[in-house]
Amino acid sequence: MIANHQDSNPTAAPCVMVIFGASGDLTKRKLIPALCNLALDGLLPQQFAIVGFATNDYTTEGFRKMLGDEIPKYAPGPLDLKTWDWMRERIYYVRGDFQDVEAYKRLREQIEQADQIHNTLGNRFFYLAVAPRFFSPIVKKLGECSLTKEENGHWARVIVEKPFGHDLESAKQLNQDLKQVLTENQIYRIDHYLGKETVQNVMVFRFSNNIIEPLWNRNYVDHVQITAAETVGVEHRGGFYETAGALRDMVPNHLFQLLTMTAMEPPISFDADQVRNKQAEVLHAIQPFTPEDVLKNTVRGQYGGGIVDGQRVAGYRSEPDVSPDSNTETFVALKLQIDNWRWAGVPFYLRTGKRLAQRTTEIVIQFRRTPFVLFRNTSVRNLETNRLVIHIQPEEGISLSFGAKVPGSVMKLGLVNMDFDYSTYFGLEHSTGYERLLRDCMAGDATLFQRSDMVEAGWNVIQPILDVWRALPARGFPNYAAGSWGPIEADDLLERDGRPWRRIGEEEVDKRGRIAVPEKTGIIT
Ligand SMILES: NC(=O)c1ccc[n+]([C@@H]2O[C@H](COP(=O)([O-])OP(=O)(O)OC[C@H]3O[C@@H](n4cnc5c(N)ncnc54)[C@H](OP(=O)(O)O)[C@@H]3O)[C@@H](O)[C@H]2O)c1
Repeated sequence: MIANHQDSNPTAAPCVMVIFGASGDLTKRKLIPALCNLALDGLLPQQFAIVGFATNDYTTEGFRKMLGDEIPKYAPGPLDLKTWDWMRERIYYVRGDFQDVEAYKRLREQIEQADQIHNTLGNRFFYLAVAPRFFSPIVKKLGECSLTKEENGHWARVIVEKPFGHDLESAKQLNQDLKQVLTENQIYRIDHYLGKETVQNVMVFRFSNNIIEPLWNRNYVDHVQITAAETVGVEHRGGFYETAGALRDMVPNHLFQLLTMTAMEPPISFDADQVRNKQAEVLHAIQPFTPEDVLKNTVRGQYGGGIVDGQRVAGYRSEPDVSPDSNTETFVALKLQIDNWRWAGVPFYLRTGKRLAQRTTEIVIQFRRTPFVLFRNTSVRNLETNRLVIHIQPEEGISLSFGAKVPGSVMKLGLVNMDFDYSTYFGLEHSTGYERLLRDCMAGDATLFQRSDMVEAGWNVIQPILDVWRALPARGFPNYAAGSWGPIEADDLLERDGRPWRRIGEEEVDKRGRIAVPEKTGIIT
């Protein structure tokens, strides 16, 4: 077991959390359950209060009751009643429209009152759990009403939800709007993928293990695969998804976070700007896509009907709020090159999609093959390569596969797995993924939040793809069946380079830890 499980994070400071969009889905599904988890673990300050703001006609009492009724449906673990009682009496509600200055005056009064009652020392942060079109207007109004002023030693911060812009220009505009009112240090652009333990562990795993980091470069790594696959379709988000698509929804934020954590150089400390400088460098080093690259190295797809988890499901074009001839992509695969000393020549393959065969997010580091000469005169025909898989969700852990001799008088090689599973080792945590991020914001630690230059660098990579795809609308959608691994072109993207995607879910590990893979590989003789 771990000998010394230290937490070096600064503690959360006394504060009022103001939630814009407090009657919405995110608040009851994630934010309040995350706060309850933090309170249960003793990680919230005693001097704490929440003020909810939305148009719904709640009183404070009615709002508390709604949350009390709803949260047990969404909380990842059982709700601790004592904790809820503690939380409940710190919750307030203000009814109002985001555009209405009078409502902000009422909000200000409520914040000040909560500050008095709970002695929160004038500190506050605003969580924008609202549709993106409200981000700029709300921050503007906060500025006009002097709610974001930092004076007499107290702080004011704003957490901005995703999506942060829908292309390079709108992301730049949004950054500009926010910076009219706030300094960069006050802005916390959230990406809840970074709240996951395994994502944070990528950095720790790389930089705290001396046997790993020396191999983490073009001399030893053949290629990297990053997959974020969902089995669900667009559910009730058809309207939003029609304007976004898989590329915008997943790549510049979630997939690029995983990419930068995997590819970054070691920072000199965990200080927010040190870490984010290194992440930004990776984004800047990505080889820009020319229009020819877009045609050659990107794949888009849209699911048709099919079978997922044994159930027949409809195609994307039949989902609610989706046009019957929609050309929106629900799948994307890309091949990227990172043009720096560590990674030149090592392709990074990224794919993400809805209605795929299995729900999984993972990073695969595929190492280079060893020389074969030693095995030339044996019955071994083929040497498998080492592969490290960082499992992000739903399983969280790391597995390393390597070759070993199968016992017996004939030389046979087997591919075996060494597995580390987070929940087996550390126990299962009931987490929403927002706990760490909320606490970091209260502690003033922005390491896991995106900085404006990172957001723009991410969109800068994506923009040429958006441009070419807009100019040449997809033909032949739908082009993959729900429950498959996406369009055939995504396989071709790797096959052209003589590589396959990792066959997720198709590998069976036997009791001895050997991987038995149908077809192609399997036990190697
Ligand atoms: N839901 C999730 O799990 C999730 C996950 C990741 C990111 N996000 C992001 O989080 C944000 C919020 O998502 P959500 O699912 O919570 O949205 P939602 O359920 O539609 O909630 C929107 C909230 O905004 C309020 N609102 C809308 N127009 C208003 C106005 N003019 N004045 C005052 N209040 C107004 C609504 O209040 P009334 O209903 O009272 O009008 C409601 O409380 C979005 O940016 C989304 O992309 C959500």
